[in-house]
Amino acid sequence: MRILTGIQPSGTLHLGNYFGAVLPALRLAHTYDESVLFLADLHAFTTVQDQKRLKSSIFNLIGDLLACGLDPQKTLFFRQSDVSAHSELSWILSCITPLGLLERAHSFKDKKAKGIEASAGLFTYPILMTADILLYEPHFVPVGKDQKQHLEMARDIAQKFNTLFGDTFLLPEPVIAEETGIIPGTDGQKMSKSYGNIIPVFATENEIKKIIMGIVTDSIPVSEPKNPDTCTVFQLARLFLSASDLEPLRQKYKNGGMGYGEAKNILFDAVKHTLSPLWEKRKLFQENPEYIQEIMKIGAEKANHIARQKLEMVKQRIGLL
Ligand code: ADP
Ligand code: TRP
Repeated sequence: MRILTGIQPSGTLHLGNYFGAVLPALRLAHTYDESVLFLADLHAFTTVQDQKRLKSSIFNLIGDLLACGLDPQKTLFFRQSDVSAHSELSWILSCITPLGLLERAHSFKDKKAKGIEASAGLFTYPILMTADILLYEPHFVPVGKDQKQHLEMARDIAQKFNTLFGDTFLLPEPVIAEETGIIPGTDGQKMSKSYGNIIPVFATENEIKKIIMGIVTDSIPVSEPKNPDTCTVFQLARLFLSASDLEPLRQKYKNGGMGYGEAKNILFDAVKHTLSPLWEKRKLFQENPEYIQEIMKIGAEKANHIARQKLEMVKQRIGLL
């Protein structure tokens, strides 16, 4: 069984991405015998249109994923833009995709409703995503809840192609990630780069400490009991502490006598303990850009080989060969 998923390089990797997307994807990659993970850099270009920022987001995300435990020997890992078959198949599929299907996309409607000027690329985003998937014939596609509709569209488009031109594509099954819950940011809202409330996974120890010490809390005095379940610091600590370490912290909240500064220090120590091996690994990759380039080159070759074959088959079916 093969799984496939894509991650957009669109900013600094934060704890929300790490617990909500990266860890679940890496766990699944270890569960299935074949896995494909790619950087959806062409998708990122729909929103990141600054050369420097796009370039560094791509380079950083590759290093981040490798440091988080992605094993390129086991998982086919590449950049979408290194495999031109994605764009070619996307065009072919766009010619059989009804406009109405795209007009119903929540992500497009939401962005338009927020007044974000919509490009044709943003509108046809689900078709490129369909091509990403169909080229590699995965059985399962793990995605967040927000991508569920895009997966339904991919199935619709694949089915339409199969009906018109004969069985060509395997219909992908979505695997909607178990609710990891929404990871709160420093202000208590959902952690998101668009809210400016992120805690990055990779930054210097001092930067991370400063951000954690700045988490917004209420103003209940040190001596008073506090509610762990409504406190962002505690919600974040749950992600890093084992049940046996979390319980004493919960008691400290309930007993009173602990200030939020102390809770933040406990959180920082736990974050450091969990993430410092990743920081070390990340540094190694940062210092060896040639190693990253080599990994991406090998990934691109393998991916091109698979994708080309599928594209040839499609071209044959529609009369382009
Ligand atoms: P952002 O909101 O910072 O722009 P993205 O939308 O690029 O983040 O997130 C990529 C993936 O990371 C999402 O599909 C989701 O699965 C996960 N994710 C992002 N933020 C959170 C969060 N606060 N809690 C849980 N998962 C999150
Ligand atoms: N659109 C996805 C997201 O924003 C990323 C993505 C692009 C993707 N192509 C894909 C995910 C193919 C799964 C399969 O999260």
